[in-house]
Amino acid sequence: MQICIIPGDGIGNEVVPAAIELLKATRLPFEFVEAEAGWGCFQRHGTSLPDATLEAARAADAILFGAVASPSHPVAGYRSPIVRLRRELDLYANVRPTLSADRPAAMNQGQSSPQVDLVVVRENTEGLYAGRERLEDDGNTAIAERVITRRASERIVRYAFELARSRQQAGRGNAAVTLVHKANVLRETCGLFRSVGLDVARDYPDISCNELLVDTAALQLVQRPERFDVIVTTNLFGDILSDVACYWSGGMGLATSANTGERYALFEPVHGAAPDIAGKGIANPLAAIGCAAMLLERAGQAETLAWANRIRAAVRGVLANGPYTPDLGGSATTGDVTHAVIAGL
Ligand code: NAI
Ligand code: MG
Repeated sequence: MQICIIPGDGIGNEVVPAAIELLKATRLPFEFVEAEAGWGCFQRHGTSLPDATLEAARAADAILFGAVASPSHPVAGYRSPIVRLRRELDLYANVRPTLSADRPAAMNQGQSSPQVDLVVVRENTEGLYAGRERLEDDGNTAIAERVITRRASERIVRYAFELARSRQQAGRGNAAVTLVHKANVLRETCGLFRSVGLDVARDYPDISCNELLVDTAALQLVQRPERFDVIVTTNLFGDILSDVACYWSGGMGLATSANTGERYALFEPVHGAAPDIAGKGIANPLAAIGCAAMLLERAGQAETLAWANRIRAAVRGVLANGPYTPDLGGSATTGDVTHAVIAGL
């Protein structure tokens, strides 16, 4: 099995090697092919996503991505490589699970924590991230076009319902999909997403369909997160809500995601390049290691599934007993945590 590795920038270069160490510890026959992307790559080659990287990603059986540092000011010729990769490879479903059972007990500070087992399914190819931005009026007006299509809405909502059904069959969740939108204001774009979503829901009489406005959904993710099973929403809303949700599993250092389409699959931690801690050796590797487990699960063979479960069990052991990196209240290094997980295998 060939895996394309794209560490990217900042702590991507610290947590992806940790995930590779885990994959190597399985002794499964992987071939790793490393490729470049991101801000450092842009400075070296004048592009944030070289053609060679796209080719390597397309040639591989799966992609493991770290994080990239995209500047918050416009830079001529720079585009976010991860947003572009998702579009180029048509990785339309961004699947972001949150499981409170993962949350280290010490983080609850003696209070009881709600039982959360939810998945945010984020549309990954359009919406406000379609890249259709421009300046008018001599630079005094900035416009972003929000693109919502019937095709992309239908396939993402269908993905969410299929996921809710398979979770129910596995004894998880409460067989419910929540459509999150803002159709009361964004009448055309969210209106289309909503009406397509409600149409798709009719094909799944065994799964209940609720809808929530995005601002209400944000509050409910804080106040009553246990009510959610599968949340499906558009690109920007999903980006934001998945960061809110991941609080319940222990924060950014633990949040994993799978970006999948008909043909390709890319696994990446939800977090970014974390410039505030990059280079210090203290980034939490568990999100990236969780992505390695997701990758093995998606590979779908008995042996890879068994290893995915073994890695998850070892991660759970470390979350229960430490060692912890500083984001989880400890003082361990990336290496300490990685080796503890490997020892737990
Ligand atoms: P961030 O996720 O990089 O960091 C947010 C906070 O979480 C920081 O305090 C950071 O230290 C902490 N954190 C993140 N991952 C951690 C880990 N594994 N262990 C311990 N602490 C961790 O998000 P931020 O600061 O908003 O963005 C920084 C840069 O990352 C920006 O240039 C942004 O464009 C980029 N970014 C890239 C993403 C991607 O490649 N998919 C996603 C999000 C941000
Ligand atoms: Mg994000």
